[in-house]
Amino acid sequence: MKYLTWTDEAALEVVREHAEKPGPMLLTLQALQERFGYVETSLLPSIAKELNVSRAEVHGVLTYYSDFRTTPPASRQIHLCVAEACQALGVRDVVKELAAAGYEVGERSKDGATDVVGVYCLGNCALGPAALVDGNLCGRVSAKSLVAQVTS
Ligand code: FES
Repeated sequence: MKYLTWTDEAALEVVREHAEKPGPMLLTLQALQERFGYVETSLLPSIAKELNVSRAEVHGVLTYYSDFRTTPPASRQIHLCVAEACQALGVRDVVKELAAAGYEVGERSKDGATDVVGVYCLGNCALGPAALVDGNLCGRVSAKSLVAQVTS
């Protein structure tokens, strides 16, 4: 996924685009993350001011939802489903094989190019183990197929 490089000026434009909408907090944070890949915490006071809420409220929402990032993402993303149906279809072996290849779930890969995130159900249970690779849904994945996708 390609993201814009964070600048406070560009981020504040995004904030202002959403500030007048009803319930702007989540919309604003989601828009920032979609645009830049993360939300820079140094901008929280300005976000709070633009949305007319406290800094604590912005911080609370940003840290409550685990999908929000406060650091720049790696250039490639694997979201591997580790929920029950995918466990029944062998995801635990995929996790072990990924770790052996330098792609520990919950960490950035050893080469620094890929974030590997464990998630719970992608709605693709019948084709488990399932994963999202850079946002694209994949079924019946293996460690080999995932590594091949992020290194191609
Ligand atoms: S449990 Fe893995 S996609 Fe549903």
